[in-house]
Amino acid sequence: MDLDPRTDRLSFNDPDEAEQARARAPVPSHDARILHLQRVPLFSGFNENELRRVAELSRIAEAPAGTVVTQMGEPGDSFFIIIDGSVAVRTPVGAGSQLQPGDFFGEMSLLDGEPRSATIVATTDVRLLIVDRSHFWRLLGEAPDLVSRILTILSRRVRRLEQTVQAILRGTNPP
Ligand code: CMP
Repeated sequence: MDLDPRTDRLSFNDPDEAEQARARAPVPSHDARILHLQRVPLFSGFNENELRRVAELSRIAEAPAGTVVTQMGEPGDSFFIIIDGSVAVRTPVGAGSQLQPGDFFGEMSLLDGEPRSATIVATTDVRLLIVDRSHFWRLLGEAPDLVSRILTILSRRVRRLEQTVQAILRGTNPP
């Protein structure tokens, strides 16, 4: 499941659930979005104009705990940054890490065009900043700092995954 672009909400299978979520979550104003962005380490050092540009290229969605935000094997068109709440990452090698406010996910399908590599489930109610595919590339083009920050975190994730695989092969507990 990815975002339903008509509603700025995560799409739900159950219409009642979708209706309740919509009623709970008013669409934030532009400035409210900038206040949220100021709390995201990925954008630290961005001036107000740069944050405003990020806000123009993104939107905010809220979803209740238990929402499947990305489904492994399905196509994906959005990049997500957690503003509030946490999500669990389930990869083909098992339950992975928890991601917290400031963490991002969903970049892999945008970068390589392949299906989602992991299932991501909200473990609490979440507020997410969402950047769609075309805006993602524009954002990276306009903010080179963002590219290096994302690459640094991706490198860390690969190292961690390698350590996990190594631990599994050795029969010890993954880190
Ligand atoms: P994508 O494949 O687009 O959708 C699922 C996302 O889960 C993926 O992008 C990454 O952002 C994230 N993800 C996949 N594997 C890991 C991992 N081992 N640790 C943290 N996040 C991951």
